[in-house]
Amino acid sequence: LLMEQFTGMDQLEKQLASLFSIERCLIVSGNSDEQGKVIGEFGELVDEALQRQLPDGRNIIAVMGGTTMAEVARHVSPLETAKRHNLFVPARGGIGEAVSIQANSVSALMAANAHGEHRALYVPEQLSEEAYHTLLKEPSIRSVLAMIKEANCVVHSIGRALHMAARRKMSEDEIIRLKQKNAVAESFGYFFDENGAIVHKVPRIGLSLEDIQKMPTVLAVAGGKSKVKAITAYMKNAPKQTWLITDEAAANEILKGI
Ligand code: G3H
Repeated sequence: LLMEQFTGMDQLEKQLASLFSIERCLIVSGNSDEQGKVIGEFGELVDEALQRQLPDGRNIIAVMGGTTMAEVARHVSPLETAKRHNLFVPARGGIGEAVSIQANSVSALMAANAHGEHRALYVPEQLSEEAYHTLLKEPSIRSVLAMIKEANCVVHSIGRALHMAARRKMSEDEIIRLKQKNAVAESFGYFFDENGAIVHKVPRIGLSLEDIQKMPTVLAVAGGKSKVKAITAYMKNAPKQTWLITDEAAANEILKGI
């Protein structure tokens, strides 16, 4: 029976990877909406993927925030070897999340668990156009931004658009506009409609969607039935080298919908 289950999951992983035309899909059994431990298992798969995919030499790993990523970071194990050195950076500046789930905190935790280095990006969440340009001239910020742009790996989650907008306390007007544009997914501070088209960008400092197109290692981590629309929308235009780490509940629901 166990063998059959493994084969079944293997089939599901292949179907999902081919549906989204991505390199690989890894599926954890269960439903992360209901079972917290499933997110811990995402973390173990992220750890394995990093162990296998990060080449020797100096790696720069850009890390996004969120509750999924905060749990994933707890499961990362030492990645340093005599030949391999890893620097972790937040993928973006603060985007209005609670401190413990901000990209800065999540990447710091990942770095500590991986025995790697870490650089924080301290930028306030609400920035005027003027302040933004001034901050970009700040040497300490410029150097971290340069590292982010050189990242060869990114680990991120995918969120539901309106849930993320509310959590980040976006204005009523912005939320109305997101609804009008049928935003269903959010990742990297970008909002996407059901076709995977970008309908809104949060003007923030850091990694852009263009930056991840050619990045060798892209790990997207999201599961649960509640995120099915968000995952499906984002994955439509995700970079082809992406590995999606999700759960059985989301995978079954996605494949049911096609
Ligand atoms: O960008 C996506 C969100 O950060 C996902 O947040 O992991 O808390 O659902 P979450």
